[in-house]
Amino acid sequence: MEISFPFQTNLASDISSESREKYQKLIATLPKENGWTPMQPLCPYQGFWFFPMFLEGVMYTQDHFQAQSTDILLCSSMKTGTAWLKALSFSIATRTQFNNSISPLQTTFTHECIPFLDYGEYAASQGPRFPLLATHVPYTCLPKSVIDSGCKIVYICRDPKDNFVSLWHFVRTATRNNIKELKEGDLISMEEAFELYCKGISLYGPYWEHVWGYWNASLEHPEKILFLKYEDMMKETESYAKRLAEFLGCPFSLEEERGGKIQEIIQFCSFENLSNVEVNKTGIHQAQGRLVENKAYFRKGKVGDWRNYLTAEMGEHLDKIMEQKLSGSGLTFSVSPQE
Ligand code: A3P
Repeated sequence: MEISFPFQTNLASDISSESREKYQKLIATLPKENGWTPMQPLCPYQGFWFFPMFLEGVMYTQDHFQAQSTDILLCSSMKTGTAWLKALSFSIATRTQFNNSISPLQTTFTHECIPFLDYGEYAASQGPRFPLLATHVPYTCLPKSVIDSGCKIVYICRDPKDNFVSLWHFVRTATRNNIKELKEGDLISMEEAFELYCKGISLYGPYWEHVWGYWNASLEHPEKILFLKYEDMMKETESYAKRLAEFLGCPFSLEEERGGKIQEIIQFCSFENLSNVEVNKTGIHQAQGRLVENKAYFRKGKVGDWRNYLTAEMGEHLDKIMEQKLSGSGLTFSVSPQE
């Protein structure tokens, strides 16, 4: 895939004020659930919870985004390894164009290398474009053209306990980044967040519904949807990098394999490396008018970190909910002890 970087995007600011007003009016009629952060309430829409600031982009893309059959959508709920999947996919797809030393990932925040549809980005773009796009939107909320076009989807998910802990940290950091004078109670406690999460009230949640939607679709269309788990990828990164390359339509050649190309990409996309790239360490990212330090997207990158924050009972409780909700689906999350 040849691209010129940075590629052409139509940013959320391109959403006309007329459309914006229409979506804002609709969003204003939705119920609001406060609790995660004083920055924004969550609103229920089409069976899932959204921040209004992202919902506008979601509605806009649902109405206007024209998927192309050659697009590849990287889908995920928040805090499941999206940046890692983006980095791996980007590096694999552009490896003949950029070696690691000149990769845009060296100078551009990982999330900006493959922007999110949810922000309205790419929403109206026409003609040839870089095929990798990303979204946190649940499967059933994807723009209709995504399903109609038959474009490919890669989905990444993660053990809910680590997902919850990662989300809790992230929301608190984002709140700190945006509210100058924090008052007591502005930052959600672990217990409050856990209760909401277990009720299904979390960004793009219920988490299990998000996972189930893509899992089910991947069973129906295995050739179109590659379903990945963060923990599996951590354990067998090389074999998953190969699968990803095949799925993206640019498999590694024997020569590349023998020459260590796969390991080179894996190392480059590793948490240790990407979290130390200057722009990811010190930059600030703007999403729909909110500022978040880029380093908030690179916290620990470990499997099983939940044990440092949740009690065993909380862990079991969440496992049970997940088991019940996914019962009969054939999908389980079993996490080996912390490495
Ligand atoms: P932790 O908070 O558990 O550390 P997302 O990219 O979907 O926002 O997910 C964020 C989670 O992925 C964070 O988890 C983050 O540290 C981790 N992460 C970021 N970059 C990673 C990488 N290159 N490899 C593995 N994990 C990574």
